[in-house]
Amino acid sequence: MDVTTSSEILIVGAGCFGLSTAYHLLKRGFRRVTIVDRSSVIPAPDAASTDINKIVRSSYSDIYYARLAREAIAAWKDEKEWGDTYHESGVFCPLLGNDSYTDQAYVNDIALGARIENLENASAVRSVFPPGVKIGLPEEVTGYLNRDGGWAFAEEGVSRLMSKVLALGGQIIAGKQVVELLRANGSTTGVRCSDGTVFDADLIVLSAGSWTASSFPSLDLGQKCLATGQCVGLMQLTPEEGERYRKCPVYLDFNSGFYMFPPNADNVVKMAIHASGYTQMLPADGSTSPISTPRTIQSHGEQGLRIPRSALKELRQELAKVYPELAAKPFSWTRLCWYTDSPDDDWVIGPHPSDPKIMLATAGSGHAYKFLPVIGRVVADSIQGVLHPALIRKFAVDRQQNSHTVSRVGNQPRELELDQLCTPEDLLA
Ligand SMILES: Cc1cc2nc3c(=O)[nH]c(=O)nc-3n(C[C@H](O)[C@H](O)[C@H](O)COP(=O)(O)OP(=O)(O)OC[C@H]3O[C@@H](n4cnc5c(N)ncnc54)[C@H](O)[C@@H]3O)c2cc1C
Ligand SMILES: *[C@@H]1O[C@H](CO)[C@@H](O)[C@H](O)[C@H]1NC(C)=O
Ligand SMILES: *[C@@H]1O[C@H](CO)[C@@H](O)[C@H](O)[C@H]1NC(C)=O
Ligand SMILES: *[C@@H]1O[C@H](CO)[C@@H](O)[C@H](O)[C@H]1NC(C)=O
Repeated sequence: MDVTTSSEILIVGAGCFGLSTAYHLLKRGFRRVTIVDRSSVIPAPDAASTDINKIVRSSYSDIYYARLAREAIAAWKDEKEWGDTYHESGVFCPLLGNDSYTDQAYVNDIALGARIENLENASAVRSVFPPGVKIGLPEEVTGYLNRDGGWAFAEEGVSRLMSKVLALGGQIIAGKQVVELLRANGSTTGVRCSDGTVFDADLIVLSAGSWTASSFPSLDLGQKCLATGQCVGLMQLTPEEGERYRKCPVYLDFNSGFYMFPPNADNVVKMAIHASGYTQMLPADGSTSPISTPRTIQSHGEQGLRIPRSALKELRQELAKVYPELAAKPFSWTRLCWYTDSPDDDWVIGPHPSDPKIMLATAGSGHAYKFLPVIGRVVADSIQGVLHPALIRKFAVDRQQNSHTVSRVGNQPRELELDQLCTPEDLLA
């Protein structure tokens, strides 16, 4: 299909992928770019991209992402564009036993000239934390600090990018849930929304995040874009604690998957485990097999925020190993936050094999947010047919699994058991 700058482009989903794609297309002179989002409030409260913080790291075992992340970090630092969305706290990766992902990430960070401190013993590790903070890590800990990294106030970044898209003449329409792809003569011509609205387009970009597979069952994306619920815990610190922990780096252990942020402006700390997570397999019209479907605050109210009790316990155990003085505090709330996972952690960007008029831009696999300023460039290159052949293959919808070390712990996601979800009482120590 020949896409030109006067083509009508419809983007489904106003998260990291959809907004960044719109932004880069508009910068390249596209004039008719519309984003629709199912949520009546955008940024959607349950979108993966809407959050108090996300890690911004270049520490990747795959040098492609390490390089792209460094470009994103350079962009994040432009305060005229992003205000104080980005906080360069540094990212500390401990090494506790063998961990080939961290080893390879270190090699890549060094090769790309990142500001690295190699921490060869426990006292060196302690020295990168503020003096008043008690660290529980064992004596054999080593690791490294990458000063070129930190975290982003994720929702703020999304809001800022929405404003940029609007300023460039893009349209963003809330409260439009796409429920059907419209076809004529074997090719997709537009979409229909749950309220009956129809949008015609020359090209449809599906960037519906963890809802992509369940929203479009006929595209058979259930395994390639698997929705997995990830367990997040948040704690309210006192102002004194907030001051004490403020200058901590992001803590990111690829071995256990546990990571934690320094307190934000409201003295809230967020922690999670980067793992295979949980599925919620539900029957889907037009698909013979069930498809994992997000369960969130929008679908289930406050219940949709609850994580399995066992995961809450694990978070507390991991917290105790790093910051023992916080380990007895109550959690303020939890969130089941949904990744869109490909089997190899690489994104899915490219035309759907059944129809070149459908372009996928998704499968963040738990690590796409940091690329908000630049990821749309990759999608725009794909749309304009100028993506490098190696990247076409890397991100192709119908690729064979790419082989590199994945960052994730655990093998298979587990099915959510609703009677095992934590209750408000479980949040107390
Ligand atoms: C717990 C957690 C922690 C993470 N931590 C990090 C991190 O530290 N660093 C990092 O870089 N990345 C991180 N990520 C990954 C990152 O958040 C995602 O890769 C990224 O935000 C995905 O963006 P998206 O556009 O694909 O999806 P989303 O942001 O979820 O956006 C999808 C949008 O599509 C809309 N939509 C869905 N279905 C429809 C429909 N049928 N019709 C219309 N609209 C629809 C939704 O309302 C939503 O607004 C994390 C993710 C989670 C869940
Ligand atoms: C770590 O790797 C070394 C060398 O590859 C090996 O000898 C050792 O048994 C490994 N240790 C663990 C805990 O896996
Ligand atoms: C710990 O490692 C640092 C370098 O990372 C070194 O300067 C220091 O001497 C080491 N300390 C001990 C006790 O080995
Ligand atoms: C489908 O193809 C027929 C024959 O080529 C054409 O007349 C018709 O306009 C096409 N319909 C659409 C919606 O493109």
